[in-house]
Amino acid sequence: MTKLETTASILAEKHSKSYASWLKFEEISESEVKNKYLPFCSHVTVMNRSEVIDTAVTELKQGIHSMLGKELQVTENISDSGIILGTIDYVNDSHFDLSEVELANVRQDGYILKAFTQNGISRLLLTAKTDKGLLYAAFHLLRELQCHGDISQLSIVENPKNQLRMINHWDNIDGSIERGYAGKSIFYNENKITSDSKRIKDYARMLASVGINAITLNNVNVHEVETNLITETYLDEVANVAGIFRAYGIQTFLSVNYASPIQLSDIQTADPLDENVRTWWKEQAKIIYKYIPDFGGFLVKADSEHRPGPFTYGRNHADGANMLAEALAPFNGIVIWRCFVYNCLQDWRDRSTDRARAAYDHFKPLDGQFLSNVILQIKNGPMDFQVREANSPLFGAMEKTNQMLEFQITQEYTGQQRHLCYLIPQWKEILEFDTFARGKGSKIKNIVDGSLFGFEYSGIAAVVNVGLDYNWTGHTLAQANLYGYGRLIWNPDLAVETITTEWILQTFGHDVDVHEKISSMLLNSWSIYENYTAPLGVGWMVNPNHHYGPNVDGYEYDRWGTYHFADWKGIGVDRTVQSGTGYTSQYFKENMEMYESLETCPDELLLFFHHVPYTHKLKSGETVIQHIYNTHFDGVEQAAELVATWKQLEGKIDSERYQDILARLEEQAEHSKEWRDIINTYFYRKSGIADEKNRKIY
Ligand code: GCU
Repeated sequence: MTKLETTASILAEKHSKSYASWLKFEEISESEVKNKYLPFCSHVTVMNRSEVIDTAVTELKQGIHSMLGKELQVTENISDSGIILGTIDYVNDSHFDLSEVELANVRQDGYILKAFTQNGISRLLLTAKTDKGLLYAAFHLLRELQCHGDISQLSIVENPKNQLRMINHWDNIDGSIERGYAGKSIFYNENKITSDSKRIKDYARMLASVGINAITLNNVNVHEVETNLITETYLDEVANVAGIFRAYGIQTFLSVNYASPIQLSDIQTADPLDENVRTWWKEQAKIIYKYIPDFGGFLVKADSEHRPGPFTYGRNHADGANMLAEALAPFNGIVIWRCFVYNCLQDWRDRSTDRARAAYDHFKPLDGQFLSNVILQIKNGPMDFQVREANSPLFGAMEKTNQMLEFQITQEYTGQQRHLCYLIPQWKEILEFDTFARGKGSKIKNIVDGSLFGFEYSGIAAVVNVGLDYNWTGHTLAQANLYGYGRLIWNPDLAVETITTEWILQTFGHDVDVHEKISSMLLNSWSIYENYTAPLGVGWMVNPNHHYGPNVDGYEYDRWGTYHFADWKGIGVDRTVQSGTGYTSQYFKENMEMYESLETCPDELLLFFHHVPYTHKLKSGETVIQHIYNTHFDGVEQAAELVATWKQLEGKIDSERYQDILARLEEQAEHSKEWRDIINTYFYRKSGIADEKNRKIY
């Protein structure tokens, strides 16, 4: 291990409460709770074996030992009491009373969890179609125990709603992380792959415990050295990492440089229709699969923000993606092609182009042209993970093309893990959004889970928020975003409050006051952050490049200071068909009409769709300018309340985490004032309109 990794691991050990995240498995001291669990937890009968099943057994043993102080005995013969664990083929012929309906309902990665108590014998059956399903069943059981659930009545058939449940790392091989706010990469250091396999294993556990089944190990911006990750220079080590994840049911993918053949061979082109290029990728795929037989495939950012792609050769995205898909098809690999494609050099004053339109304009015409092992990965919004923006109109617009959704757990525009911003409510809202693609009820969640159009491949990915910091995520409360992401994409129908409660119980224990306070802090945090930052969906207003802190004219791709079009009379981007960029026309009729009209456009997205005078009245009755002032003053007060609320928990939380979180909340409260003052002053000076309440604006 390098010095950095050694220090990180010492710190992780020292700060074990932070490091253990939601997998603490604290001893259950309440004897009435414990006594109910003990009869079920004496033995585990393992009906069949595999690497992943072994992981499930190990996790059960560790978790039960830690919570109940009991050694779980592993047997192969069914004991009187205890857990029975095995895939359906192995348990079906026994006497477990599984109904036809239960058996028919369990799908790939799903599981059955069922308790039986008869004649004083307590049994708990964990069965599934696949070994991964058993691992998820084991983590489900452990979660029940940590949350003090009643396991004696369990009778569950549980299936993940999304097929691909993915994490994207934007880690670079020098150890830096693009948009990383929790220390250096856990995978790389100084152009090498880490030898700290413990750290990766601990991470794999966290991911598997919430159902993640796929991961990309490197940044979508694949620079020179990282281009080699798909070559024999690195594949041995990549295979080691893939092996750690495999044991936790997680498939490994890599981001690739579209121009790889140029860098890695004598071929002078990356033209997707060039025979030499096609052959090169096919040969490269063979090499990769030799090292990693279950390799997932490639994630590709092409023709965007200066990355190479098929445009150079006059080809389109389908040509580019299909060429890679053909190379991977013999091995069942897939290509995940990102739709974050726009012209970052556009003249923002030219209203005939609009960055928000770009993904749809590029991809919609290609519907039906992609091979079946290509998935388009679409960011939730048409811009870039703003605190609030419209949902991408591309969802549902391509019936014949596999689609998946991309979220950002790492808080690039939402406070960079120095501010508290719990994103599950935002994601829930997005997933529940009705696109009307096939009439009412065509929600984004129904598109990306593949059910609406019957996609062969689909799912959800997110850019992750972890690094070498001892608490993984910089802000300890930002662990909730990672946990919640996994749980929500496993089942987008879960209530935000359910996920939040689970996380708090597992992370901070069962004190009612602790639960209430942390829950209210988390659940209000997105709206608090929105209040003191960018108003009414206008977006950006952050410092260029690093994107932290307020800067109203900070949008780096707008050299003309017109991103939000604020002048002395008004503000907002006119994206209507009638007088603006026509972006609203990319939505299905119902949404198009809702956004097009000032009367029906929701307040929170007003400035995303319309340019209005500062005196325009919102549905709330406030004028736009007064709303800006009010929310910014409110936001600062609310940020201060977060600190006050947290302080009431002193003594109820271990001091390590208490102090860490306090420091972040205090920084946030202070920084929110800067946001308030810069934004309010800017708009006061621009508009010349005074605050109705005469508060001090500098
Ligand atoms: C944003 C982000 C970049 C990232 C890009 C992407 O623009 O700031 O760091 O590379 O998104 O998603 O590709």
